[in-house]
Amino acid sequence: NLPEQVVIKEVGPRDGLQNEPQKIPTDQKIEWINRLSDTGLSYIEITSFVHPKWIPQLADALEVAKSIRKKKGITYAALVPNLKGLERALEADIDEVSVFMSASETHNKKNINKTIKDTYPVLEEVVNEAKKHNKSVRGYVSTVFGCPYEGEVSVDQVIDVSRRLFDMGIDELSLGDTIGVAHPKQVEEVLLRIKDEFPNKSIALHFHDTRGTALANCLTAMQLGFNTFDASLGGLGGCPYAKGASGNVATDDLLYMLDGMGIETGIDFQKLLDAAGYIQRQIQKPLPSHQMQIVHHQ
Ligand code: HMG
Ligand code: MG
Repeated sequence: NLPEQVVIKEVGPRDGLQNEPQKIPTDQKIEWINRLSDTGLSYIEITSFVHPKWIPQLADALEVAKSIRKKKGITYAALVPNLKGLERALEADIDEVSVFMSASETHNKKNINKTIKDTYPVLEEVVNEAKKHNKSVRGYVSTVFGCPYEGEVSVDQVIDVSRRLFDMGIDELSLGDTIGVAHPKQVEEVLLRIKDEFPNKSIALHFHDTRGTALANCLTAMQLGFNTFDASLGGLGGCPYAKGASGNVATDDLLYMLDGMGIETGIDFQKLLDAAGYIQRQIQKPLPSHQMQIVHHQ
């Protein structure tokens, strides 16, 4: 029942770097993204057009997005919270716009300074405007499997928020385990409900590996027919407004598993490790993924 092909969406330059305490110089980010473009990845989330006061690490979003060498066949995406962010994203001619909100009220408020109800019209404006410019739009729902402030999040609430985003016209939904609390049994329960509600929709999973369950969660999702995963190279990253959140599932660990299982991704493992080595040298600390630990000890 496993998929023959999986799409890995690299979010390291955004989700990874937004959580690194030190600022990486802009030209190094550009160089890293250029190297990622040569690994066979088909999708890279390169930055985020949020308020620079909230995420100073990505204050150079416009310059990064304008300066990377765009390769044919790759979708370059960025987070956009509102029309102000969209303006910059369009100026940079980003391929895909990602709107985002949370399934839990408190996290939504802490992350984007609005209630869930007040967020909908803001995102709807972004989706409409992006569509006018022929951009595809991805919608993120955070705290799907648990909230750092509220604990348990009801699946009904996740479905509610997801439906609102699909109704706005998003092309893909990404379900986020923001603080990495999910385990395979919960993933199965949630995704069975999701499949029931949105049978023909595009859905990606965005697992963080805070508690070491991310790869197992990916496998569970694959067994249920899901085939699109967000991942961050070397396990870089987290969410600055979710205490204790650590990196996404590591792209290199996920690829190792998929390669071994004979599941196609189009990504070259060695080139991916080389790109991980590059960013590791820039951040000057060992990346947490298993693959990079092995490289480290060789
Ligand atoms: P706000 O302060 O409520 O915004 O922030 P506002 O609309 O009231 O405007 C206040 C000022 O900000 C104004 O400037 C605006 O022009 C400016 P002033 O008139 O005072 O000089 N402003 C902006 N400037 C630049 N770019 C913009 C922008 N918008 C307003 N886009 C806002 C609201 C959403 C902007 C803010 O809360 C914010 O930037 N939040 C970002 C939080 C964030 O990036 N979190 C991490 C990403 S989400 C995540 O990691 C989860 C995910 O990975 C999935 C998962 O793991 O679950 C995606
Ligand atoms: Mg995330």
